Order: sequence, then C-alpha cells, then structure tokens
Amino acid sequence: MKNRWIVSLLSCVPIAAAFLVLQSCGGVGGSTTNNGGQGSTNAEFLALLSDEQRAAKSITPQECANCHGGQNASDAVYVHWKDTTHFAKGVTCEGCHGPGSAHKANPTKNNILTFPKVTDPVVCGQCHGPIHDQFNFSKHSKLIAAPSEEAITDPGRYGKTSRCIACHSGLVRAQVLEQGQDLGSVPDDQIIAMSEATLSTVPHTADCATCHNPHSKTNKLNQLGEDVQLRHTEFNLDTTDIAPGSTADKFTQYDHICAQCHNGRGTNPSDTALNKSTARAPMHDSPQMQMLMGIGGVEGTGVIKRNTSHAQAPGQCTKCHMPDARHTFTVSFDKSCSPCHTVADATNRADTIKSDILNLLVALRTRLETYANTKFGNTLYWEYTSTIVGEGGTAPDQKLVDIEVKRARYNYYFVIRSGDYGVHNAPYAKSLIQVANSNLDSIGVPAAPVSRLSLNEKFRLIESDKARANRAEFGTK
Ligand code: HEC
Ligand code: HEC
Ligand code: HEC
Ligand code: HEC
Ligand code: HEC
Ligand code: HEC
Ligand code: HEC
Ligand code: HEC
Repeated sequence: MKNRWIVSLLSCVPIAAAFLVLQSCGGVGGSTTNNGGQGSTNAEFLALLSDEQRAAKSITPQECANCHGGQNASDAVYVHWKDTTHFAKGVTCEGCHGPGSAHKANPTKNNILTFPKVTDPVVCGQCHGPIHDQFNFSKHSKLIAAPSEEAITDPGRYGKTSRCIACHSGLVRAQVLEQGQDLGSVPDDQIIAMSEATLSTVPHTADCATCHNPHSKTNKLNQLGEDVQLRHTEFNLDTTDIAPGSTADKFTQYDHICAQCHNGRGTNPSDTALNKSTARAPMHDSPQMQMLMGIGGVEGTGVIKRNTSHAQAPGQCTKCHMPDARHTFTVSFDKSCSPCHTVADATNRADTIKSDILNLLVALRTRLETYANTKFGNTLYWEYTSTIVGEGGTAPDQKLVDIEVKRARYNYYFVIRSGDYGVHNAPYAKSLIQVANSNLDSIGVPAAPVSRLSLNEKFRLIESDKARANRAEFGTK
C-alpha cells in the first residue's frame, strides 16, 4: 500500500508532541511535596482560591471529617478516601480543596475550593503534570460551546429533553449524573447556572473528575485489573441502554467510561423511524460504540457479523486509545494493537481497510447522486432536509424519497460519523455499505463508474459531507 493515509499522518502530530512532553516532565503521579516538578500547575491552582482561602492555614483531614459526615458514617467522603492510593501517598482533602482553617472557623462555600472550580483539571495537574499535559492535547480539554449556549437560552430542550450538556459539559456530568441525579429533574435555573459555569470556568468536554471519582475507589477496574477510581467500566458488552430507540435518560447514563458519551444516541434503523427522521441523519456524530459492537445499522436480511475481536479486547476503546494510560486518547500502532498484531500488520490492515471503505463510500455516494439527479434533477436531493436547505436548496417532499435510499443514506452516515473508516469493526462497516448498495440495486440505480479521484481527494470529499451535515445541524465547521 503506497498511499500513506492522511489520518494516520495527522494522528502522529499529537503523539510526537506528547513524547516531548513526557520527556520534560516528572513521572506519573509526581511528588506531593514539589507538586510534580515541571508539569506543576501550582500557581494556577492558587489562582483558583479565594483571597480568604489563600491566606488560610492547613487543618487535618480528621477535622474536615468531623463536620462532613463523620469518621464512622460509612458513606462519608473521609471513609472512602482512606481506602485510596491518595491517602496512602499523603494526598489529603486539602491537596484538592486547598487549605481549610478559614473554612473551619466560618464554613462557607467561598472559603473552600468547591464546585465548579474544584473540577478544574488544574487541581489534579498540581501532581499529575504529564497526564495533565497529555489531556491538554486532547479535544476533551476543549469545549464545543453550542450545547451549553443553547442550554442557557432553552434549558428545557437542550438541558433536559435532548440532554446535550450531559455529553458536552464535563462539569454537568460530574455535578449531576455522577451524583445519581438525572438532568430531566434538574430545575431550569440550575441548568443555566451549570452551563454558564461550563462556558466561563471549566470549559472542557471531559474533566479529570468527569471520568475519575476523586474520593473513592469504585471497583470499576481498568484493563490491567487496577482500580484507578473510574466512574464507569471500560468494558461492557451489554448494549441495552444504547439499543435502537433508546431515550436520552438511558443512553446518557450508559455504563461505559467512553461510550457514556461516544454512542449514537438511540439511533434507530427501522423503516418507521427512517420515514420519520428525515430532517437530519438520526445518529449523532458519535456512533463509535454502536460500530464497535456492530449494532444500530440497517442490516437487511443477510448474515451480519456484528462482534469482532476488537469489541472483545480488554479495555475496549481504552485498549487502542489509551495505551499505557496515555491521556491524549490517540492510537499508537505499536502499543495499542499488540499482542494481537505486529506494528507492520496493524498499520497495513488499518491502511487497507481505510482505503477500501473510502472507495466504497465514494462509490455509494456517486450512486446516491445518480438517483437524486434522475429522480429530482439535482444531485444533492438524496440528502436529509437540513443539509439541502443548508446548501440553499429546496428539499423535495421526503415522502418521495424511496425507502431504499433512506436506508442507504442512513448507513452512509453511520459509517462516516463513526470516524474510524472501518478500523473499529471492518466486517460491520463493510456489510452496512453492502446493504446500502443492495437496496439501491433493488430499485435499479446503476453502479458507479470507477472514480478518478485520488485517495486524499476522496477523503476530503467524505469529510466535507460530514462537515456539511454538521454545519446544517449545528451551525459548526
Ligand atoms: C466546622 C465544620 C467544618 C469543617 C471543619 C469543614 N467544613 Fe466544609 N463545610 C461545612 C459546612 C457547614 C458547609 C456548608 C457551607 C454552606 O453551604 O455555606 C461546608 C461546605 C464545604 C464544601 C462545599 C460543598 C458544596 O456543596 O459546595 C466543601 C467542598 C467542603 N466543605 C470541604 C471541606 C474540607 C475539604 C474540609 C477540611 C479541609 C472542610 N470542609 C472542613 C463545615 C465544615
Ligand atoms: C483528589 C482530589 C480530592 C481529594 C483528595 C478530596 N476531594 Fe473532595 N472533591 C474533589 C472534587 C473534584 C469534587 C467535585 C466532584 C465530585 O463531587 O465528585 C469534590 C467534592 C467534594 C465535596 C462536595 C460535594 C460532594 O461530593 O459531597 C465535599 C464536601 C468534599 N469534596 C469533601 C472532601 C473531603 C472531606 C476530603 C478528604 C477526606 C476530600 N474532599 C478529598 C476532589 C477531592
Ligand atoms: C497533591 C498531589 C495530588 C493531587 C492534587 C492529585 N493527585 Fe492523584 N495521585 C497523586 C499521587 C502521589 C498518586 C500515586 C501515584 C503513584 O503511586 O504512582 C496519585 C494517584 C492517582 C491515581 C491512581 C490511583 C491508583 O490507585 O492507582 C488516580 C486515578 C489519580 N491520582 C487521579 C487524580 C485526580 C482525578 C485528581 C484530581 C481530582 C488527582 N489525582 C489529584 C497525587 C495527587
Ligand atoms: C450521548 C452523548 C451526546 C449527546 C447527548 C450529545 N452529543 Fe454532541 N457529540 C458527542 C460526541 C461524543 C461527539 C464527538 C464525536 C466525534 O468526535 O467523533 C459529539 C459531537 C458534537 C458536535 C461536533 C460536530 C462537528 O461539528 O464536528 C456538535 C456540534 C454537537 N455534538 C452538538 C450536540 C448537540 C446540540 C446536542 C443536543 C441536541 C448533542 N450534541 C448531544 C456526544 C453527545
Ligand atoms: C475520558 C475519561 C478520562 C479523563 C477525562 C481522564 N482520565 Fe485518567 N484515566 C482514564 C482511564 C480510562 C484510565 C485507565 C487507563 C487504562 O486502562 O490503563 C485512566 C487512568 C488514569 C491514571 C492512572 C495512570 C496509570 O498509569 O495507571 C491517572 C493517575 C489518571 N488517569 C489521572 C487523570 C487526570 C489527572 C486527568 C485530568 C488531567 C484524567 N485522568 C482525565 C480516563 C480518563
Ligand atoms: C463527557 C463525554 C465524553 C467522554 C466520557 C469521552 N469522550 Fe471522547 N469526545 C467527546 C466529545 C464531545 C468529543 C469531540 C470534542 C471536540 O471535537 O471538540 C470527543 C472526542 C474524542 C476523540 C477525537 C478527537 C480528538 O482528536 O481528540 C477521541 C479519539 C475520543 N473522544 C475518544 C474517547 C475515549 C477513548 C474515551 C474514553 C476513555 C472518551 N473519548 C470519553 C466526549 C466524550
Ligand atoms: C482496535 C482498536 C480501536 C478500538 C477498540 C477503538 N478504536 Fe477508535 N480508532 C482507532 C483507530 C486506528 C482510529 C483511526 C484514527 C487513527 O488512525 O488514529 C480510530 C478512530 C476513532 C475516532 C475518530 C478520531 C478522529 O480523529 O476523528 C473516535 C472518536 C474514536 N476512534 C473513538 C473510539 C471509541 C469511543 C471507541 C470505543 C467505543 C473506540 N474508538 C474503539 C482504533 C480503535
Ligand atoms: C485483542 C486483539 C486485537 C487488538 C488489540 C487489535 N486487533 Fe485488530 N484484529 C484482531 C483480530 C483477531 C482480527 C481479525 C478477526 C476479526 O475481525 O475478529 C482483527 C482485525 C483487524 C482489522 C480488520 C481488517 C482485516 O484485515 O480483517 C483491522 C483493520 C485491524 N484489526 C486493525 C487493528 C489496529 C490498527 C489495532 C490497534 C490500533 C488493532 N487492530 C488492535 C485482533 C486485535
């Protein structure tokens, strides 16, 4: 395979940068006395404290416990904390909450570091410098602002019904879902306050405290069997909560450290749903768990292979995206794919499947255009309404679009929105495209001629469809 893959090339950038960072920082965990050496965010931590607290002195964890649930209450923070590595290594309540004497003398929320600021990754970055730096390379440290902005203007819809902020605000997840509440029952003024705090104070998709319980072991073990205080499991083969038709109260609470967010939001491939969901592609930009497990696509009647070795890999997403617990969330072909593939085998398979899928997608897209041109005199009119309108067109009555085309475009978007071009689950991705093609065969849409585009041009074409749909739906990119 001579064509170097553009995505592989791009993903080298953060990896190379992360190596540099690792060299310039101390080890994982860092010291509790010098706060992790060069990776330290100590000054930034102090900046989070109120003037009153900055002038305060240290008190003991027992003193905190005296007022916060007591040492004997079995659900008290103190009791759980005593069971953690933090306790063993001398990381006290104040390591994260700052000094407590002023708070002890006159307990208020202004003289102890608490929500929202205590969820700032800088708190953990005091001692976990290298991981904090890696995290900063990841998009999880950024924020797609639209969901929080929309929840401020329309908390009922974007906060409670669609629950956008459950997956687009690390703060909301830590403050609401992880405290056993559901967004559906949170009053509007709190939704607005949390969304404002997300935008102004902790503008991240996922903070450390979104994924890690700061106080307690959780018995949700990582791929090595260690308890690193994960709020959710890394491995889950039960897809009930993200099955087709699942509702937002369910799929936002899915017990999976990645797929609590990276799921297709109840995307439903039934004909009834396809005839109803014509405004936009019904799966969100995030059907990676569906793809990995091989669920949620229009499957037709043939035999579908839905569960590959990748779905069974210990750690699932983290096996590939967090080798050595690396928090850039980027794949490393040497570490992620072993012991199952050699580096050469993994690279070769990934390159091959990505170009295969890309060729298939472009051919499918061409057929959809041919259909639309023949039927409506416009190559864009196989698309969902919002995309056609977004491009300045007038969408045809969606009742006129054949169900076979609705099935085909659904699978098309399912594959491109997973973003992995077949690596997650090659047999499933291929079969979805095949099902799309047999649907088009059945209504006589001619096969596509061989494309003359280069692989990079094909990649850009498909990515531009993704961007076009996102622009139409969310007004982004
Ligand atoms: C003398 C009793 C007392 C001591 C000692 C004490 N707290 Fe508090 N703490 C309180 C009270 C009461 C509140 C509620 C204040 C309020 O709502 O205005 C509170 C609030 C808090 C909050 C905010 C909770 C929220 O809902 O936002 C945090 C965090 C906290 N304390 C942590 C600590 C830590 C850590 C220590 C030890 C360094 C500590 N406290 C020591 C009594 C105490
Ligand atoms: C590793 C950092 C860390 C340590 C150590 C820590 N906390 Fe916290 N604490 C947090 C974070 C982050 C939050 C907000 C997220 C959450 O509640 O899960 C929080 C929230 C709180 C709250 C408010 C809400 C709640 O969940 O009850 C209290 C009270 C509190 N901590 C007390 C304590 C006490 C007492 C100790 C020591 C026994 C302690 N914390 C140790 C990071 C820490
Ligand atoms: C004051 C320093 C300090 C702060 C602040 C701190 N940690 Fe730690 N953390 C440590 C040390 C030291 C270890 C032990 C590292 C080791 O043994 O290699 C550790 C270990 C851990 C572990 C591994 C636990 C295990 O049992 O293997 C996790 C997960 C973790 N920290 C998460 C966090 C998060 C999340 C925060 C912020 C909410 C945080 N830490 C804040 C010092 C800190
Ligand atoms: C179940 C979790 C979840 C919910 C609920 C959710 N999203 Fe997302 N969203 C994601 C994930 C994960 C991604 C990133 C996917 C990727 O990068 O492959 C994403 C991506 C996006 C993007 C980026 C698309 C682009 O332009 O590249 C936007 C915008 C967005 N979501 C808006 C929303 C809005 C608005 C809502 C509510 C109507 C919402 N999301 C609800 C998980 C969710
Ligand atoms: C999107 C979820 C997520 C976020 C955000 C996240 N972590 Fe983690 N973290 C994990 C997972 C999953 C693991 C276990 C990885 C594995 O399987 O080896 C982990 C492991 C760790 C460990 C143990 C490392 C080891 O070598 O065993 C530490 C320490 C840690 N995280 C700290 C942090 C800190 C600090 C932050 C914020 C800067 C953070 N994490 C943000 C998911 C997350
Ligand atoms: C709180 C929700 C949430 C959780 C939990 C989460 N993600 Fe994400 N993830 C997102 C969103 C939203 C985006 C898109 C961010 C953007 O485009 O700015 C994203 C982007 C990504 C990306 C691609 C963007 C990039 O270049 O960084 C990868 C890869 C990824 N996530 C993997 C993971 C893995 C692996 C886990 C579990 C360890 C995980 N995510 C957990 C919400 C989440
Ligand atoms: C077998 C290894 C493997 C597994 C398991 C895996 N991924 Fe991936 N993932 C990849 C590779 C390889 C890519 C292509 C991007 C690259 O080359 O870095 C990718 C791409 C992605 C992307 C798109 C990245 C981007 O930049 O847009 C996201 C998001 C993602 N994966 C999230 C997940 C989530 C969430 C899971 C679990 C449900 C998961 N992955 C499971 C290997 C894996
Ligand atoms: C737990 C073992 C395991 C891990 C880890 C793993 N793979 Fe695989 N992979 C397999 C097996 C076994 C197959 C073939 C059988 C199947 O599809 O179940 C396979 C198939 C594939 C395929 C499908 C194309 C084909 O030739 O059939 C690609 C592409 C692939 N792997 C790439 C990767 C990449 C890239 C990584 C690391 C980022 C990775 N795999 C990690 C076990 C693994």
